[in-house]
Amino acid sequence: MDVLHAIDSDAWAGPFASDEQGDAVGALEQGSILYFPHLNFTLRSGEERLLMPRVLDHGGKNVSLEPDGTLSHATLSGGTKDCLRGMMVRFSDAAAALVETLFPTYRGRVDLGPTSFRPVEIEGRKARPLADDTRLHVDAFPSVPMNGRRILRVFANVNPDGKARLWNVGEPFADMARNILPRAKPPIPGAAWFYAAVGATVGRRTPYDELMLGLHHGAKLDLAYQAKCPKTPIDFPPGAVWMCYTDQVVHATLKGQHALEQTFYVPVGAMADPSRSPLRVLERMTGRRLV
Ligand code: SIN
Ligand code: FE
Repeated sequence: MDVLHAIDSDAWAGPFASDEQGDAVGALEQGSILYFPHLNFTLRSGEERLLMPRVLDHGGKNVSLEPDGTLSHATLSGGTKDCLRGMMVRFSDAAAALVETLFPTYRGRVDLGPTSFRPVEIEGRKARPLADDTRLHVDAFPSVPMNGRRILRVFANVNPDGKARLWNVGEPFADMARNILPRAKPPIPGAAWFYAAVGATVGRRTPYDELMLGLHHGAKLDLAYQAKCPKTPIDFPPGAVWMCYTDQVVHATLKGQHALEQTFYVPVGAMADPSRSPLRVLERMTGRRLV
């Protein structure tokens, strides 16, 4: 499996040839990162003033825009806030057009998740170990149970100073799961019910969600694993766009400032090959149904 699968397009809404679409979905589902060196999310005049860490409030990791229009962790007001919202909505629309045209077999089955703007330099940023994305991990959301659904994310580097975003990509998902699962902390009995009852999670965590959180936490807290896991460093230069299933691709972000990101949720049943989903991999590994 290649870490990157490059696609030469410079148009967010394609068109893409059918063999290009088939290759793309195959590579994505195998755990490659689809890399678009020429796609370039272009900022509009006035938006460059948004490229500063102060746009983000102290409590937040990223500025976040929910599909219902709720904007959180932005410090701005008035016209500047509208400008930020406008940039994020435009990115969200572009990312949705890309997913829609590149993956015709997913069409109508993908749910839109939040859009984020990431204006803070990653290198040297202070974070609690579990929130530290410079450590290798797969994505799992403590408050949003996935119930088996996939996390598909589209990223764009919009850095104005020529600075690349540097990722490390780790080992294939199944290898990571084999390494981490035996040592991951088991969930506390009754916890999933309790978190849902007090509203700490949006619905109840399934055994799948518990295992995925176990992998996320287990990998981030295991410094020996972090040190010895094979890694491929990848520079995403300004103008680059990339996407992957972040619940499957073991990743860490080491450096970089000013990125946009759009999350999508994809049901396992929409995949060209559902057997490659973390859900099915973990079910084979544990010998039980997880959702
Ligand atoms: C992450 O999901 O770990 C962060 C990705 C990024 O901001 O580049
Ligand atoms: Fe992540």
